Amino acid sequence: MASESTPQQLLATALADGLAQIEASDSTDALKAVLTGLTGKKGSLVAIRSSLGKVDDLEARKALGQLVNEAMTTLEEASVVRSRALRANEFAAQIEQERVDLTELAMSAQASRRRGRMHLVTQATERLEDVFVGLGFQIAEGPEVETDFYNFEALNMPPSHPARSMWDTLFIESDIEGSVVLRTHTSPVQIRVMKEWPPPIYAIMPGRVFRKETPDATHMPVFHQIEGLVIDRGITFADLAGTIESFTKAFFGPGFTSRLRPSYFPFTEPSAEFDIRRPDGSWIELGGCGMVHPHVLRAGGLDPNEWSGFAFGFGIDRMAKERHGVEDLRDMYSDDVRFTEQFS
Ligand code: DAH
Repeated sequence: MASESTPQQLLATALADGLAQIEASDSTDALKAVLTGLTGKKGSLVAIRSSLGKVDDLEARKALGQLVNEAMTTLEEASVVRSRALRANEFAAQIEQERVDLTELAMSAQASRRRGRMHLVTQATERLEDVFVGLGFQIAEGPEVETDFYNFEALNMPPSHPARSMWDTLFIESDIEGSVVLRTHTSPVQIRVMKEWPPPIYAIMPGRVFRKETPDATHMPVFHQIEGLVIDRGITFADLAGTIESFTKAFFGPGFTSRLRPSYFPFTEPSAEFDIRRPDGSWIELGGCGMVHPHVLRAGGLDPNEWSGFAFGFGIDRMAKERHGVEDLRDMYSDDVRFTEQFS
């Protein structure tokens, strides 16, 4: 009869067996089960440890206890190594499984004529243009790099006029310091249009504008505005209010209305801000407007005794943000197609 195995032999066998099982596990789940079977409460090593109580010699018992602990550590370390390898394999398999075959994508895109999407601001600009063209307006554009003259002076803000501080201005280096700016609004295009087009003028002027702002949820250093200018004989504030109201209904829908609140802009007198009332009763602050100031008419080469007019301007990005419930303006410029896709 074979003599009974010593605890050391049992331990050596359990360890070798455990290492083999660890090496043989083919998934992280299987590995976890193996490890529990070895070192868990009911595991084989724990059984060996319990049997140590039967060893009478204290020193021998201690030495064996030490060996059991070492075996446990060895098994745990081996399982960590194995687990890493398995995870790497599983990740590689997942990558392979989720691999996008671009050939196929290109082919199906071609098949379904899938195209890119227009940016929310582009969509809004085009709709605004459609609505105003429908109201009889023409579209004009001006340069993004402007002179101080067009951006401020011609708009009734001589050098060091306090109202200039309403716009945090970005300057372009130039021979005469401060004489060239990135336009802070689309209002300078009013002057260019007045100088170039014989009145009567019914014009809208969309475009990019620039301000020295730190980007946050409601501000961007680069954004878009649309300017409106009407010059004709006998134009009154009632024409301004009526145009804003017609635009509101045509652009937002029949359930929307507008209101004007007294305000101040150097280029209009009187000036107002206008808000749009949603069907639920809430208000969107949209922009500024007013009767074109006589100084501005003159800067545009028009005689204030013959011509009068109104102007308005508002932010396109902010309007699109309000209209579509976009929480953070920065999302609009994240270059993430998943954002753009929501709005087509
Ligand atoms: N230019 C103004 C701004 O950027 C907005 C504005 C107000 C435009 C009144 C106008 C106007 O044409 O009449 O804050």
